[in-house]
Amino acid sequence: MGFKVLQVAGEVYPFAKTGGLADVVGALPKALARLGHDVRVVMPKYQQVTEEKFPSQPVATDLFYPLGNEFKSVTIRQWTGGTEVPTYFVDAPEFFHRPQLYGHSDDAVRFIAFARAVLEMVRALNWTPDVIHCHDWHAGLVPVYVKTLYAQDLPQTATVFTIHNLAYQGVFSKDVYPLTGLDWSLFNHHQLEFYDQLNFLKAGLVFADALNTVSEKYAEEIQTPEYGERLEGVLIARRDRLSGVLNGIDYAEWNPATDPHIAAPYSPDDLSGKAQNKRALQERCGLNTTDGSPIPLIGVVSRLSGQKGFDLVAEAIDDIMALDVQLVVLGAGDEYYTNLFRRIGERYPSAASVNFRFDEPLAHQIYAGCDLFLMPSRYEPCGLGQLISLKYGTIPIVRRTGGLADTIQEFNPDSGLGNGFSFEEYAASALLNAVRNAVNTYRMPSAWERVVRNALSCDFSWDVSARKYVDLYEKARNYARR
Ligand code: ADP
Ligand code: GLC
Repeated sequence: MGFKVLQVAGEVYPFAKTGGLADVVGALPKALARLGHDVRVVMPKYQQVTEEKFPSQPVATDLFYPLGNEFKSVTIRQWTGGTEVPTYFVDAPEFFHRPQLYGHSDDAVRFIAFARAVLEMVRALNWTPDVIHCHDWHAGLVPVYVKTLYAQDLPQTATVFTIHNLAYQGVFSKDVYPLTGLDWSLFNHHQLEFYDQLNFLKAGLVFADALNTVSEKYAEEIQTPEYGERLEGVLIARRDRLSGVLNGIDYAEWNPATDPHIAAPYSPDDLSGKAQNKRALQERCGLNTTDGSPIPLIGVVSRLSGQKGFDLVAEAIDDIMALDVQLVVLGAGDEYYTNLFRRIGERYPSAASVNFRFDEPLAHQIYAGCDLFLMPSRYEPCGLGQLISLKYGTIPIVRRTGGLADTIQEFNPDSGLGNGFSFEEYAASALLNAVRNAVNTYRMPSAWERVVRNALSCDFSWDVSARKYVDLYEKARNYARR
């Protein structure tokens, strides 16, 4: 018999997305549904989740819940577009009807309200999940509520908490604590308190029945001070409940044979379209077209943050460009990294194109049109960019950390094995070495053909990982019963 599973997240593709979290919570439920489980999803109804794009109807209205001394009311709406996975929106305009998803001064209140609304929704829907699967800090209070204020409603419900990124913890002044409605006795060093503040992620880590992160390597790394973001102690204490489950890719969204955003479709059997995509991308981005000449085009599609290792790119850029390559960057985020790439664009106007916005079609065109894809991350829980690139026959250059280490094997021209290029030490010279190897390989047609073949034959579809989540749900249910 299948499980009833509710997925709770701050962003879900195609409704709202800032990064890979949305891709995962967009795709995993579909894969679980294909395995026969009753999976539903809930997220906030942001301003961008318009009725025009995503029509919905109310399924529970006027749910009241306390927020400090006030009573708030919320409506739960259900998307009428999809059939396989019911998707619910928490409609609370005062908190979510804003242009940006996160980064507001009242984020603590917003996501306390979100967690509360999710529990009220479960109560109202008359659909009791076997498992509530919570993603990242935005859903961190949900496992706490399941074990405390809502324990009587949900005595059989297990919770799973997935860490997509340990660096974003949702840490707020304890002044907001009374809004949670939770007893102050939980505000202690072993539970919700973190250096005298309230930590949403820690709450999820402490209260969920089972924990995981999105690669095995990252699951190990976060138990060390270097990657643990000051929560390594909590993670070590719960290591028996912590595992790594690699993300998959939704090949219905990411497939060069059917991709509506790219100039020419192609498939492993006929790669001729790839050259057309390269030319179209060069034209669109104002780069010299290079038909027939061995000038590799390197792509970056990324949030711009300290996580992604772009300090190394800044340091090595002159040496990289001296290898006679072209660069196209699509990114949004920190001003510091925006300026860093802006300077690169100004320095190499005909060889580097920099684009600062969130742009789904251009992202697809970069995956399809580039020869190489660069992800020199300082840390990377899983990483989807390298997996998408493999599917498009675009060869990743990565730092061997987290999910990048688990998915990219160094190409060895002697054995002919390997699907990309990588470096270990977080240093510009190490990055440069990897880029040099990649560019040299690009200029040897037979070796290049081999590495592209290896990339195209990788399979990171969701089926395997979805089964691992089902095992995890089973375990969580056993833990919850104890
Ligand atoms: P993270 O979740 O840390 O941002 P991932 O590699 O897991 O990194 O996922 C990033 C996802 O976001 C990919 O689907 C990538 O294509 C997409 N993405 C990142 N930046 C942009 C952007 N500026 N425009 C469009 N898509 C982007
Ligand atoms: C995070 C991580 C990324 C991961 C994504 C989805 O944002 O930075 O590595 O792929 O979540 O799990």
